Amino acid sequence: MPAISSSAPGKIILCGEHAVVYGQPAIALPISDVQTRCVILAKPNAITRQVLVKDHAFGLDTDLSSLKPEHPIRKTIESVLTELSIDHLPACEVQIHSTIPHSGGLGSSASIAVALTRATANFLGHPLEDIIVNKIAFEIEKLHHRTPSGIDNSVIAYAKPVFYMKDTPIELLKLDHPMVLLIADSGIKGSTAKAVDLVRKRWKSSPIEFEGYFVEIGGIALKIKRLLQTGDLEEIGELLTNNHQLLKEIGVSLPELDHLVDVAIRSGAYGAKLSGGGMGGNVVALVPPDTAAQIRSNLLRSGAAHVLVARISPPARR
Ligand code: PMV
Repeated sequence: MPAISSSAPGKIILCGEHAVVYGQPAIALPISDVQTRCVILAKPNAITRQVLVKDHAFGLDTDLSSLKPEHPIRKTIESVLTELSIDHLPACEVQIHSTIPHSGGLGSSASIAVALTRATANFLGHPLEDIIVNKIAFEIEKLHHRTPSGIDNSVIAYAKPVFYMKDTPIELLKLDHPMVLLIADSGIKGSTAKAVDLVRKRWKSSPIEFEGYFVEIGGIALKIKRLLQTGDLEEIGELLTNNHQLLKEIGVSLPELDHLVDVAIRSGAYGAKLSGGGMGGNVVALVPPDTAAQIRSNLLRSGAAHVLVARISPPARR
């Protein structure tokens, strides 16, 4: 049996994070410059049913059965088996290769869940529909982040821009205009679960104030959704910067993130904001294509650990 391989992209939240946990809309884009690739090699001559798992990024090289039942990798494989009513995987080696930095807001956990779900199902000869892959990845996200909104697994499972609102059907967005985004890594690991907990505590102690922030952030996502169709990048940029200000007010920014946002804007970005859980991780800046290189080098000189240039292109017309 040949090796089976499945890939899944990373993602960036363009706007709406945190408020999306409270039912407001948010927009996320798949980022294929970073990826997870999952390879499964059959071991037809093995004497036992051993399933070996190798994940270089996490230094994992072990038997699947030795992982805790709640380990995301074990849980993902078992969820696929349950979904397909199959009781075990034949002997094999599961390799996970990811270029997505961990705890950086680029969707590493959801990307692994999606790539591993697809590879496992394909290995068993029963490819799963996106909706099922997404359902499994959402359950795995709960192991990582306790109360995820579901945006990360959705944008990664469908590998398309999404306008996402909890408990409503996922809306896939067709972007008609190219955009250049700089994704600047602050080099500080942010814990999404901790950031979400912090916001929840603050919301509980000042519900009216925080609901006001969430509604404002949701309003920005609605406006950006419309502007993505007209391609008004300057206005989108301004709204991204306003979104950053609101994230700062709810307490999930850091001086290092504010600094990168300022540098991007002073260097000519249309707008910039932290992206994802915050308290570390990445800043996303929407930039004019001709000044992207200059803004990128300013960000690197100002403390960004890495800066990815993501070119978002409209789908090719047939
Ligand atoms: O840190 P990330 O990129 O996984 O994004 C988290 C986004 C939040 O809105 C803060 C949480 C969520 O589950 O939507």
